[in-house]
Amino acid sequence: MNKRIFSIGLALMLGAAYSLTAFSQVKPETLVKQRQAAMILQGKYWGPLGGMAQGKVPYDATVVARNAGFLEALSKMPWDGFAPSTKDVKSAALPAVFTDTAKFKEAQDRLQSEVSKLVAVSKGGAEAAVKAQLVATGKTCGGCHETFREKQ
Ligand code: HEC
Repeated sequence: MNKRIFSIGLALMLGAAYSLTAFSQVKPETLVKQRQAAMILQGKYWGPLGGMAQGKVPYDATVVARNAGFLEALSKMPWDGFAPSTKDVKSAALPAVFTDTAKFKEAQDRLQSEVSKLVAVSKGGAEAAVKAQLVATGKTCGGCHETFREKQ
């Protein structure tokens, strides 16, 4: 067997084994930090858009389109961090996250669907239509926090 192909194969196998182990052994505390980091970044890129929705920040279509694109990826990231192994780690997540999982999942889907619509309308949509979609998106953040996050 060609030695080079063999070592590439071996490297791939080791890589796969490594990531499997890494995934199953992620400490609950680390998962919590990672999901919070994803939320913090959503907060960062949502911030100015929420301000625009409320008329507190001047409307800027370029910023909306850019941040909506970032949010499309970010809004998929926090959820695998709410693994059952994290339920006793201190965080702002309420116990309902782990007991009312169907409703929690629905709230995630709602966010992702509104963000997808925002991405679509932000590509050249009229200001009024974009703003209406900003309002709809913001409601999905607040709606979930209302039920699943400790009051700040
Ligand atoms: C499906 C529910 C859900 C949705 C939707 C959601 N969040 Fe969260 N968010 C949470 C939970 C639960 C926490 C607490 C997580 C923790 O402490 O581990 C949180 C925490 C946060 C935090 C605090 C992070 C920290 O640790 O400092 C910010 C900021 C945040 N969310 C912003 C947003 C924004 C912006 C949106 C919408 C674009 C959003 N969230 C949508 C459930 C949600």
